[in-house]
Amino acid sequence: MGRTQERHFGPTLFDFLDEPWSAMDESVVSVRSANVVHINNRRYLGNKFRLTPFIREIVDQNCPDVNVVADVFAGTGAVASAFLDKQIIVNDNLYSNYICYLAWFGSEKYCEQKIEDYVEWYNSIETDEDNYMSINFADTYFSVEDCRRIGFIREHIEEKYENNEINARERAILITSLLYGMDKIANTCGHYDAWRQGVAFDKSLTLPLLVPANDNNPANRLFNEDANDLVKHIEADLVYLDPPYNSRQYCDSYHLLENVARWEKPDVFGVAKKMDRTGLKSKYCTTEATAAFEDLIANIRAKYVLLSYNNMSEKGDGRSNAKISDDDILRILRQKGDVVVFSKAYRPFSAGKSNIENNEERLFLCKCFEKKQLIQSPLNYTGGKYRLLPQILPHFPIIKGAFVDLFCGGCNVGINTNSSSVIFNDSNRYIHGLYETFQRVDKKELFKNIDRIIAKYNLSQSNLYGYEYYNCESSKGLGDYNKDKFLKLRDDFNQMKSRDEAYYITLFVIIVYSFNNQIRFNSDGKFNLPVGKRDFNDKMREKLSTFVDRIKKGNVLFTCKDFRDFDISTLGKDDFVYADPPYLITCATYNEQDGWNERLEKELYQFLDKVDSQNVRFALSNVLHSEGKTNAILESWLSQGKYKVIRLEYDYSNSSYHKKDKESGSQEVLIVNY
Ligand SMILES: C[S@@+](CC[C@H](N)C(=O)[O-])C[C@H]1O[C@@H](n2cnc3c(N)ncnc32)[C@H](O)[C@@H]1O
Repeated sequence: MGRTQERHFGPTLFDFLDEPWSAMDESVVSVRSANVVHINNRRYLGNKFRLTPFIREIVDQNCPDVNVVADVFAGTGAVASAFLDKQIIVNDNLYSNYICYLAWFGSEKYCEQKIEDYVEWYNSIETDEDNYMSINFADTYFSVEDCRRIGFIREHIEEKYENNEINARERAILITSLLYGMDKIANTCGHYDAWRQGVAFDKSLTLPLLVPANDNNPANRLFNEDANDLVKHIEADLVYLDPPYNSRQYCDSYHLLENVARWEKPDVFGVAKKMDRTGLKSKYCTTEATAAFEDLIANIRAKYVLLSYNNMSEKGDGRSNAKISDDDILRILRQKGDVVVFSKAYRPFSAGKSNIENNEERLFLCKCFEKKQLIQSPLNYTGGKYRLLPQILPHFPIIKGAFVDLFCGGCNVGINTNSSSVIFNDSNRYIHGLYETFQRVDKKELFKNIDRIIAKYNLSQSNLYGYEYYNCESSKGLGDYNKDKFLKLRDDFNQMKSRDEAYYITLFVIIVYSFNNQIRFNSDGKFNLPVGKRDFNDKMREKLSTFVDRIKKGNVLFTCKDFRDFDISTLGKDDFVYADPPYLITCATYNEQDGWNERLEKELYQFLDKVDSQNVRFALSNVLHSEGKTNAILESWLSQGKYKVIRLEYDYSNSSYHKKDKESGSQEVLIVNY
């Protein structure tokens, strides 16, 4: 837009645009009027402004140590605005909401005077020239005159921004002002699914004045993403969730604000004059809502999750019915942590005929299990799933019966489930003997015996004497000091004949002092790994202690069978089989000596099909692709479409692994039959 069009207007800004704003004569612009708006001065379906004191009270009373709050379905941003004393992360998949966050919560400095002047000038202009808005929307949601003004103002904001006359924050503030002004006069009942026919346009466009803080926390982060993608990349103390709960799509209700905010001038269709909204539709408004919610919760990294979800199901009209059942909400949240539900009578904004009163607004507060509450195996078993647990566990159902950890390895998975019993099976007789010993021997005796062996062979005890005592630093490890002592212990161990408690306790000491704490025997049954860097330090003691406590309490059984011989005939619908077999296409010590091969891979899938036919739920861990290789047997088994494939990220908490994983094209998956 050039100056030619600007001639239509009375007072113009262009006479003094070259002047620094601070130098402008105050008489040119008026003082702030009653026209100042606040974040909540707009109509928005499901907005929680009135609920913010309640939300804040719940957080203050129940969630200590909250410094970072994420509002990932933020809508108007009203809830985030109740946490401005903290660092906030604010997101919505609609750009028309995101632009408002830049205005209200952005930390870029803006010139208040400049904004006031533009708003005043925009409010004084008139134009009779047509533009995108008047051509497409004249006398629908707005009068033709107001459409012309909206189109002109929006174009003008963009032009000023492109010419560097306003910065990104000022652009956002002006667009937000325009959106709020449009909302005030729109010929609708609050959203743009339809416009009211035959109604006189009695109000005309007035842009309100936004005066957002100019000292917002520079650590605030504002996003325009799908919430399910975003949570994989952020971490917060509290994540507040207010997803759409019924089939009403926000991109349908607010298509016109979205159109003006984006200003890409797309074609519009139908009576309601909607643009193409592909890509803006929310899964939370569809039958995929529960699966989307499950995925969202699984990927959240926070101390607390606070969910707003209405209880409209079974009431009102079909469109108002909640998409996720209370049972599913509770099931999913309880896998993440301990859940408490708060409720408050709250009258919703109801736009249609279904005017439901006295429904309760509920807040589900989930205090997430801490990662460190997970029990970690004292064996560093190759392929151990400890790091993947936060992603795997949320996909498990509530298991009322037995959890069978069929290839238990380090036991990391089975030991962290809440089933009524756990059967740890592994065909490796060494680890089986080790676990049975841990379970049988008194814990104090176990530690005493371990320390006795360490002392006898004069192996390092960094827990007592530190690293310097052994002339080595922590980074280089204790290998130099321990090498000859370890080899002597290993020789003696390899001579031991009986497979008694002493044998397995000695084996554990060897594992602790061996390379990477791993276990490897050659075909003659001789332990053959070299010395490692570490010893029986405090961390390892702690791991063993917690592990032993857990397997001693409750119904825990260790079996040592080839999976093909594992008896599933007694399993039923309350039981669960988790299979974490050796991966055919990745190399691990247990694959050596032909420990795993294509025949076994196929037999495993037959075994799981049988588990499935018995109505027993199962989950299988595996990789589909790794370093250019594909597990074709797995792919073909999955191609029947009988089972669900959940893609996991190898380790979202460790970016270097993540990167390595991406580069190698490795894809960890969980395959489930439920
Ligand atoms: C109930 S409203 C939130 C209201 C908000 N708490 C407030 O007070 O204004 C739900 C919001 O979720 C957004 N939304 C829907 N699906 C989304 C998704 N997959 N990712 C991010 N935002 C989404 C919608 O655009 C809408 O603004």
